Parts: sequence; C-alpha cells; structure tokens
Amino acid sequence: MKIGIIGTGNMATALGAAWTRAGHDVLIRGRGSLPEAAKHGDLVLFAVPAPAAPVLAAELADLLAGRIVLDCTNPIAPGPSGPMLTVPPGSSIAAQIAAAAPDASVVKAFNVVHSSIWTADDLALTVPFCASDTHAADQVASLIASMGCVPASCGDLSRAPYLEATTALAIGIWFAGGSVRGIFPEPAQR
Ligand SMILES: NC(=O)c1ccc[n+]([C@@H]2O[C@H](COP(=O)([O-])OP(=O)(O)OC[C@H]3O[C@@H](n4cnc5c(N)ncnc54)[C@H](OP(=O)(O)O)[C@@H]3O)[C@@H](O)[C@H]2O)c1
Repeated sequence: MKIGIIGTGNMATALGAAWTRAGHDVLIRGRGSLPEAAKHGDLVLFAVPAPAAPVLAAELADLLAGRIVLDCTNPIAPGPSGPMLTVPPGSSIAAQIAAAAPDASVVKAFNVVHSSIWTADDLALTVPFCASDTHAADQVASLIASMGCVPASCGDLSRAPYLEATTALAIGIWFAGGSVRGIFPEPAQR
C-alpha cells in the first residue's frame, strides 16, 4: 500500500518503519511539505498532536478527498486524578477530522499502544480500529494483518470516543505503576 505520514515524530517514525518492514511504500513528511505526504498515500496517517489534526485536515481537505485518513491521535491531557480527555463527552478527534475533510474516509487506529511497541520485530498485537466506510475498514484491516497483527473492528466512527477514552484509561494505569497487559482476556465460552 502507499502510505503518507503527516508528522515526523515518535509515531511517524515508529509506524513508518513498521509499515516499511511490512513491504509498504511509506513517505514521511513534516511542516512545509505535508501536501507531499497527503498526495502520496492511499492511506494518510495523521501523527501530530490531537488539536493540530483537524486543523491540518481542513488545510489538506482537497488532497485528502478519496483517501483513507488514519487517525492515531489522542486528545489527552493531565488531570487531577490522571489523564483526561480534552474533547467533550461523545466527541472525538476522529469525528473532527471527518468533519474537516468530509470527502476522506477516516479510520481511528493505532492510538492505544506506545510508539515504542511498533519497533518490535514480533508484534502479534490485536489492533482495534473504528471505521464507517467498508472499503476503508477492509484496507486498514489488511494493513494491520500485514504487520503480523490482528485487526479488531470496534464498529463505525461513532465508536471512536471509546477508543480515545480507552487510551486515557490505559495511560492512567501505566503512570500509576500498573500494567494493562491481559486486561482484555477472551471469555472461556461465548
Ligand atoms: N507517542 C506515543 O507513544 C503515542 C501513542 C499513541 C498515539 N499517539 C498520538 O500520536 C500523535 C503523535 O504523537 P508523537 O508522540 O509522534 O508526537 P511527537 O513525537 O511530538 O511528533 C509530533 C509531530 O507533529 C508535528 N506537529 C506538531 N504540531 C504541528 C502542526 N501544527 N502542524 C504540523 N505539524 C505539527 C511535529 O512537528 P515539529 O517537530 O516540527 O513540531 C512532529 O513532527 C499524538 O496525537 C499522540 O497522542 C502517540
């Protein structure tokens, strides 16, 4: 797949390297050359701070039309009792990006684990994602599988607030010295 990456920081380099290892054609671009990344990708990852993502999506909306936008951002800031969401309840950065670039197909994904995880050779993670467009969901599921991971559909983009909140919860546990490993074991019987 052709993947453009908006941003040059931790997530851009970690996911960019993981996708390159998986055989994808990745172009990472920073300030001043973001349109190159938007034009390159059938999928375009926004790896920027959450508040910047909808602003950049609006600026790049014409170029993003017909493409899949991968949103890995987390609208999270420190709060009195742990990390807090910075968007209103029921809202999400994914929805804000979708509103800013209405002709793109936005998929929330890759926001739950730390960037360093993507540098491991043997990933084998379950990767949750939210997507309203069926083609975009299929493409992102294929991308996740190509990394040796297991795609987990969480439903349409209206579920993105839960995926963003999951990360706030996980970071809170992690900062408090706990571990989120094994927090979602499969039931023995369905
Ligand atoms: N780090 C993680 O473990 C992790 C895990 C999951 C999700 N995330 C999410 O992924 C996103 C990126 O995190 P990160 O750790 O990769 O951040 P980072 O290392 O700080 O990189 C952020 C990138 O965004 C660029 N940027 C910032 N503001 C911008 C603007 N207004 N216009 C254009 N580019 C801008 C920065 O460019 P400059 O260097 O030029 O400022 C930099 O290239 C965040 O939303 C974060 O919540 C991070």
